[in-house]
Amino acid sequence: MIIMKKNKFTVVGVGYVGLPLAVSLSKFAKVIGFDVNKKRIQNLRKHIDDTNEFKSNYLKKVKDLNYSFKTTEIKDSDIFFITVPTPINKKKKPDLKNLIDATKIVSRNLKKGSIIVYESTVFPGCTEEICLPLIEKISNLKYNKDFYLAYSPERINPGKSKFKLKNTVKIVGSSNKKILRYLKKIYQNICLKVHPVIDIKTAEAAKIIENTQRDINIALINEFSIIFKKMNLDINKILEAANTKWNFIKFEPGLVGGHCIGVDPYYLTYKLEKMNYKPKMILAGRKINDNMSKYVAKKILNDLKLTKPKKKKILILGATFKENCSDLRNSKIFDTIKFLEKKGIKVYLFDPLVPIEELKSFKGNIVKKLDRKNFYDAAVISVKHEEFIKLGIKKIRQNIKNKGLIFDLKSTFPNNQTDWHL
Ligand SMILES: NC(=O)c1ccc[n+]([C@@H]2O[C@H](COP(=O)([O-])OP(=O)(O)OC[C@H]3O[C@@H](n4cnc5c(N)ncnc54)[C@H](O)[C@@H]3O)[C@@H](O)[C@H]2O)c1
Repeated sequence: MIIMKKNKFTVVGVGYVGLPLAVSLSKFAKVIGFDVNKKRIQNLRKHIDDTNEFKSNYLKKVKDLNYSFKTTEIKDSDIFFITVPTPINKKKKPDLKNLIDATKIVSRNLKKGSIIVYESTVFPGCTEEICLPLIEKISNLKYNKDFYLAYSPERINPGKSKFKLKNTVKIVGSSNKKILRYLKKIYQNICLKVHPVIDIKTAEAAKIIENTQRDINIALINEFSIIFKKMNLDINKILEAANTKWNFIKFEPGLVGGHCIGVDPYYLTYKLEKMNYKPKMILAGRKINDNMSKYVAKKILNDLKLTKPKKKKILILGATFKENCSDLRNSKIFDTIKFLEKKGIKVYLFDPLVPIEELKSFKGNIVKKLDRKNFYDAAVISVKHEEFIKLGIKKIRQNIKNKGLIFDLKSTFPNNQTDWHL
């Protein structure tokens, strides 16, 4: 198999992961960016990327990438890359609906010789145990004879981050050596390096432990943060000191939201429970991180209690789940907000990175500009947006009443300029 400009590739799900992939692949193949979200496709056709990964001018210059919501247009693709969301449900179990729907769509449009590469995060075994039987049944084609499968987890970090597709190492696993070699050539064109692995399950497992390890490490630091507060010690000073050791790994305390770190460990624990193994450490870490939003809310309430929490006005700076992006998915600050609102506190939300329409589901007050002198009783800076640093603590404090408190969860500002940090 050779890579030719006339190759047709389809990326199924052109969101944070799929769009950069589609753009990169279009440099050497004809690419269809397929998505069931009509609005997303209509916007992309107008070169508008709501994920803010690409500027309009950049998208305008991209050749050989067409966007579609019509399944007929993905027929005859040589490779399908599946990059749809894999969230969890209310019971914290994998919600595979998007993945299964995407698999069905692809199966109905599969031709002989095609490859399906899954990039969505899943549990080890998901591709071959859940997707493969569906593909064979719907397409009437035989695995490793008529079509091939591979798994290549995505590691990009959306937002203002230096870790993009072109400078990350890409893991690829396939049950077919020829396909693995072919995919290696393809990915080598768009990423830093390819790390082939022995099979699909190994690639799936590698992704899931990357994020689980991160979750556990943050949970440990969150627990340290709680412990050291009880000892009247400053965690930042302790971390700074410990970090001088060659093998100390630095993590920061904070709320763990989003669609990856707070979600992926549940994919692994789901699989383990199916195998009658009850993971202890992974779930303990999840519990600690999930409880941090309540811990923060309780601290705020406790510190405001002296002067009656009811009718207090609190300004929250930062709605997103992490810094410098507009992504609100599973942002844990909303749990803190709910808790505060239940106690009668009036919450005001300010996030210059998130378009106002996207905050519609938030029923409280949305702040467009920080221009109310001595208005709020307290402020909570939940993420380290560069915009907040540019704004400066002085400007933020002007909006807070005299003796008002600033809870700076992520130590965005030097600790002596705010009243509390995690
Ligand atoms: N965003 C990240 O930082 C990141 C990093 C690494 C891995 N991942 C993983 O990559 C996958 C995709 O995440 P994302 O952040 O790009 O999600 P996203 O929500 O930004 O994009 C997914 C797109 O898929 C579309 N979609 C849903 N069902 C579909 C279907 N049946 N057919 C076609 N399109 C469909 C949605 O409309 C959406 O536009 C997830 O498994 C995620 O865990 C994400």
